[in-house]
Amino acid sequence: MDTVWSVAGATPPEEGGAHEARLRAQLGQAWSLSAMGEMASVLAHELNQPLSAVTNYLRVARTLIAELELADDALIDAVQRAGDQAMRAGEIVRTMRDLAARGAAEQKPESLSAILAEVEFIIESMVGDADARVFYAFYQGMDVVLADRIQIQQLVLNLARNAIDAIGKSPIRDIKISTRLDVDGRMLTTVEDSGPGVDAAIMSQLFQPLVSTKPLGMGLGLSICRAIVEHHGGRIWVEPSSLGGAAFSFVLARTVNSDDTAAQSERVRRR
Ligand SMILES: Nc1ncnc2c1ncn2[C@@H]1O[C@H](COP(=O)(O)OP(=O)(O)OP(=O)(O)O)[C@@H](O)[C@H]1O
Ligand SMILES: [Mg+2]
Repeated sequence: MDTVWSVAGATPPEEGGAHEARLRAQLGQAWSLSAMGEMASVLAHELNQPLSAVTNYLRVARTLIAELELADDALIDAVQRAGDQAMRAGEIVRTMRDLAARGAAEQKPESLSAILAEVEFIIESMVGDADARVFYAFYQGMDVVLADRIQIQQLVLNLARNAIDAIGKSPIRDIKISTRLDVDGRMLTTVEDSGPGVDAAIMSQLFQPLVSTKPLGMGLGLSICRAIVEHHGGRIWVEPSSLGGAAFSFVLARTVNSDDTAAQSERVRRR
């Protein structure tokens, strides 16, 4: 395995004593959650109005399509998908606000590959016309984790967004999203890219809020990712990717620790 660059949520070095170190870690997390909570309520408040407007206009568009008897499948499909995404945006804002407020997610047994398969088309549309390749390699065995589906999707979309930003100017533009079993039988998800890797100057504060190297970046994505993973009892970290850029990984416990892992882990789908 490559050298680990940074581990979010790890206890800082012991100088000053273990107690102080633990306190510092807890304070850091509390600050990030309250900052996130405040930001989330402002965002929820501000976004509610335009999102309702979008939903209403789409309802009008659907009525017009019916009235004008436009039987164009692509048009109907596009309006339907736009509606789904508006609903999804609302759900994400609510989840983000709830996450900070109640601290616990609504977790159910979910197949990790099914959760990820649902966001593939969003990632494709985020890549858009950029000349990039996205590889998927999902573990096909028992990959059921206790998870809040929307939160895990939000987490992976944040990582994918960062990966897309990172490969922007690189000559080779590859992104890989994969899941596999780790040595402890937990599910490990990795989003990696062929970009330049994480800037050394921000490495030690990478998962803290408001840390960004992007002109228009809010520096919130990774702190939200960390909060989501920690609420799932998991861990997120970054290391160098064999693709040349950064590899962000997080682990989630499976609901069942079956012992038939070796045979199943062979079954990997690639596209
Ligand atoms: N895949 C990556 N490759 C290289 N650097 C990355 C990658 N992902 C994140 N970073 C670095 O980490 C910083 C923080 O990322 P984060 O997602 O928290 O914020 P952001 O992307 O800058 O803004 P926001 O997500 O709020 O729009 C980024 O500005 C970037 O410098
Ligand atoms: Mg980001």
